[in-house]
Amino acid sequence: MGQANGIVAVTGASGRLGGRLAVRLAAEGARQRLVVRDPARAPRLGGGNLPRSQVVVAERYDDRAAMRRAFEGVRTVFLVSGREEPRRLEQHRVAVDAAVVAGVERIVYTSFVGAAEDAVFTFARDHWHTEQYIRASGLRWTFLRDNVYHHALTTWVGPDDVIRGPAGDGRVASVSHDDVADVATAVLLDERRRAHDGRTYELTGPQSLTLDEVAEALSRLAGRTIRYEPESLEQAYASRAGHAVDPVVLEGWVTSYAAIAAGELADVSDDVARLVGRPARGFEAWLDDYPDQWAHLVRR
Ligand SMILES: NC(=O)c1ccc[n+]([C@@H]2O[C@H](COP(=O)([O-])OP(=O)(O)OC[C@H]3O[C@@H](n4cnc5c(N)ncnc54)[C@H](OP(=O)(O)O)[C@@H]3O)[C@@H](O)[C@H]2O)c1
Repeated sequence: MGQANGIVAVTGASGRLGGRLAVRLAAEGARQRLVVRDPARAPRLGGGNLPRSQVVVAERYDDRAAMRRAFEGVRTVFLVSGREEPRRLEQHRVAVDAAVVAGVERIVYTSFVGAAEDAVFTFARDHWHTEQYIRASGLRWTFLRDNVYHHALTTWVGPDDVIRGPAGDGRVASVSHDDVADVATAVLLDERRRAHDGRTYELTGPQSLTLDEVAEALSRLAGRTIRYEPESLEQAYASRAGHAVDPVVLEGWVTSYAAIAAGELADVSDDVARLVGRPARGFEAWLDDYPDQWAHLVRR
């Protein structure tokens, strides 16, 4: 199946999502090119026997020449959004330009639920602008709008066992990396009637939880009380003032919680189930199945 589809380039292949996708594509026999910044961190597939030609190094999405080389001979690009930083949109634009110049036909991009020009979550605006850029590129496209990853929620617990943020009593329909990778595999390898072209999928878990409920679930497993403490926006900026991060990144952190309060991340979609033929894995089931993913909460 993968042979007929040509080579798929997976960017961010050293990361959680890209790595999972690479393993799945390899299992399906698809031809792929892993685009990484550090070849030592490329996923080891086929017992480490992956031919070197299938791993290419491009240190940044905005290294135009390197991205073009990475995409030459490739039919489809799976573009993992870059780490949140002020120039992320420009980086995505260069990566899309490189795909066009290299003769790529199709791009599947990991966007974010609620992507909009005026989204409360400021980094969801980047995603919206990237989507617009891809739409205008002439490439065939599919957008996977992921909710917050289950794993990300486990990283929101502070050293004092408190999840702090201006999320009010809003809800978040988080999703697992594995479900997103399963959807990506299905979308990339199913070219029949080009059914996924021009489609935007909302990838969420099967339920939408408040941060109180997230804290409860984590407490049960960690064996001690983890709680959620709502902040005002002002408190949220003040409590993070000691972090030496760019103000744009800080605003992204704070507004990710504010987006929950605003309801941007609350809707549950059945797109995962429709695309992979089984229900999405909920947060609590995921915690039970993947203890290594929240081990950092136990070892304290
Ligand atoms: N939905 C969510 O909850 C959530 C949470 C956090 C992030 N995200 C977004 O979703 C993406 C994928 O998530 P993930 O969990 O797989 O993240 P991850 O494990 O951090 O992996 C991100 C991958 O993208 C690469 N990368 C990041 N910025 C890059 C750039 N500017 N140029 C080239 N490569 C770059 C990284 O390379 P290195 O490993 O070499 O840095 C890594 O391979 C993230 O990059 C971020 O945009 C979503």
